[in-house]
Amino acid sequence: MTIAWNPASREWHLHNGHTSWVLAVLENGWIGHLHAGTPLAAGPSYRHLAPPFAGYDNRVGEPIGLTLPGPGVGDFRVSGLIVETADGATVLDPQYAGHRIVPGKPALGGGLPATYVEADDEADTLEIDVLDAPSGIRITVSTTLFADAPVVARSMRITNGGTAAVTVRCAMSATLDLPDAAWTLVQLSGTWARERSVVERTLVPGRQGIGSLRGGSGAEHNPFLALCRASTTEATGEAWGAALVYSGNFLAEVDVDPFATARLRIGIHPEAFAWRLEPGASFTTPEAVLAWSDRGLGGVSDALHRLFRERLARGEWRDADRPVLLNNWEGTYFDFDHDRLITMAREAKAMGIELFVLDDGWFGDRPDDHRGLGDWTVNRTKLPKGLDGLAREVRDLGLQFGLWIEPEMVNANSDLFRAHPDWAIGVPGRKRTEQRQQLVLDLAQPLVVDHLADAIGGILASAPIDYVKWDWNRFVTEPWTPAAPADRQGEFFHRYVLGLYDLYERLTSRFPHILFESCASGGARFDAGMLGWAPQAWTSDNTDAVERLAIQWGSSIPYPLSSMAAHVSAIPNHQTGRLAPIDFRAAVAMFGVFGYELDPAHMDASDREAVRHQVAFYLERRDLFQRGRFARLRSPFEGTGNEIAWMVSAPDGSRAVAAHYRVLHRPLPVRDRLRLRDLDPAARYSVTAWSSFDEPLGSFERGGDELMRVGIGIEPPDLLPADARPPDGIRVVRGDFTFRLFDLRRI
Ligand code: DGJ
Repeated sequence: MTIAWNPASREWHLHNGHTSWVLAVLENGWIGHLHAGTPLAAGPSYRHLAPPFAGYDNRVGEPIGLTLPGPGVGDFRVSGLIVETADGATVLDPQYAGHRIVPGKPALGGGLPATYVEADDEADTLEIDVLDAPSGIRITVSTTLFADAPVVARSMRITNGGTAAVTVRCAMSATLDLPDAAWTLVQLSGTWARERSVVERTLVPGRQGIGSLRGGSGAEHNPFLALCRASTTEATGEAWGAALVYSGNFLAEVDVDPFATARLRIGIHPEAFAWRLEPGASFTTPEAVLAWSDRGLGGVSDALHRLFRERLARGEWRDADRPVLLNNWEGTYFDFDHDRLITMAREAKAMGIELFVLDDGWFGDRPDDHRGLGDWTVNRTKLPKGLDGLAREVRDLGLQFGLWIEPEMVNANSDLFRAHPDWAIGVPGRKRTEQRQQLVLDLAQPLVVDHLADAIGGILASAPIDYVKWDWNRFVTEPWTPAAPADRQGEFFHRYVLGLYDLYERLTSRFPHILFESCASGGARFDAGMLGWAPQAWTSDNTDAVERLAIQWGSSIPYPLSSMAAHVSAIPNHQTGRLAPIDFRAAVAMFGVFGYELDPAHMDASDREAVRHQVAFYLERRDLFQRGRFARLRSPFEGTGNEIAWMVSAPDGSRAVAAHYRVLHRPLPVRDRLRLRDLDPAARYSVTAWSSFDEPLGSFERGGDELMRVGIGIEPPDLLPADARPPDGIRVVRGDFTFRLFDLRRI
């Protein structure tokens, strides 16, 4: 049991040797938060870590840790829960009313994705009930501690046990009170084509954070933040990570009070949210996941990666090998027909690729992105043999077949919109804002979800389809739904997300064999919520390898490589015009779910040969790339960002692949050693170095301790001992966009 209740001190100690959380019933009946993070010995009371709650004492309230902070009662920091009662007040008195310690992790419910366990010994869950007696509002705060990781999942359920309707105005999935504010806040921010850049700021008094009011988590800020000490590195020091398992509007922020305590809160953004609860009704928040590590930011990543990969992702594809794919989008855009696609697929097969994906443009009247969206019938001009005919021919070539969809959208110029203009989101009597000539369908209306389940379900049943790329190419404007009365429009955004999840649930359960990949103009809805339905996501529309080093680095802080689709595309790169060699492009994309996005007809023989070698190299190590332990070694966000390195290793330290990338070449580079991680210090490793995929540069032997503590030479003179150099010497790699891959195997 990882959760102990001490009835004498009225404290709960959640403890698993990796982390501790200590909660308590305070003297005033509220739930206090005494400690979280560093593992503490089980048994003693930690009540002294929080003074008695003094409330508003002359000038200030005592900054005690609270599990369920609310407004108007003397704690003037940001709130975790705001409920407006029938009298219009927002003052609650959340009194302890009981608790349960449950083996395992009860389902979250509410149609929300969540982490889970497969056996009860994988976690324990503490459910604390509190009651606001005057209103009858009951709240259950659930805290799950996973047995083998420094990770807690938190959510709450609010039930109106009174006789009058109330309105939930703010329901954070988690608040976490930390006793000091000496932290650097790390956020992942950007926009389309430069998603999830690492941005850091030192905490200062007041509120600081990120959020989205776009109807989706967005490319601008990711629903994740980390807190690191000034001295924390990737491998050492204390760090927190907080991720929201949700795909809609969110808020993640830290409030630093005058006593320099820090309150982190994460949940649905309260600004565009108000949820009415009639008597007897409940509201369940999405789940937040909080990871703590004293092994640096990498320790937080490691814990989140494992959880997201193994106990958030679900279904047949969670553990299955993800196929290497060729997507036609950048190769053809809308300009394709059956024969051109089959030619591409045939070439793909010849290069060792496993899955052919048909992107946008296969349906309705869709010569470009101005029309046809929403009309889910096959375009017979482009595909005279239909999807079935195309898919079968692709299958006959020995490939799997995948398809792009964008169910949530509609062009005004479409049969669907002409028939059902009220299915698109908008406020009656007001202009609707178009973006990419499209409008968002109102998934808050159950009949729209029903229609999409039928229309998309019909398409997926009509042909042998192995993979689906589910796109979402604009944000929500003019939020309003006819599905709710005027005084419940504050529910719109969350209802939309619940409609989306309902659609995902219906399609993923009807087609369990299909691998779903989420996408939103690239990475504009790349969040832990989507990973509950689709185990992989299109990381960014920016396929430039140099840009991808930064995008994949930032994404990897919370998300595992198995969730990050990464493709080699043609040069000049369509987003940047850059001309990076094909092996460099592949060496970056392999640290993700590997694929291609180009027209092989435009490739010369040497590039095709290169792809054959790349695919073979990747397939031999796919297990490592997909399920290995990822470590970031050199950041594109530090220094000049010219040298980047990362690695992936088998959990038992038996194998690893480390990569070092140099963006621009400098003559006579300084001697440089790259220190590796996660190896067996007592073992010897055979190390094979590659700077292209046709043949290795050479091999040598090193000790695990040396590789981690002294490092590995990157420059050619260091690369091989003299007696191991090939007779013609080592090819010196010059030029821009170079890389070294080190393949390590324990001897
Ligand atoms: C945006 C996606 O990110 C692209 O990969 C592509 O699928 C286009 N949409 C198609 O419209």
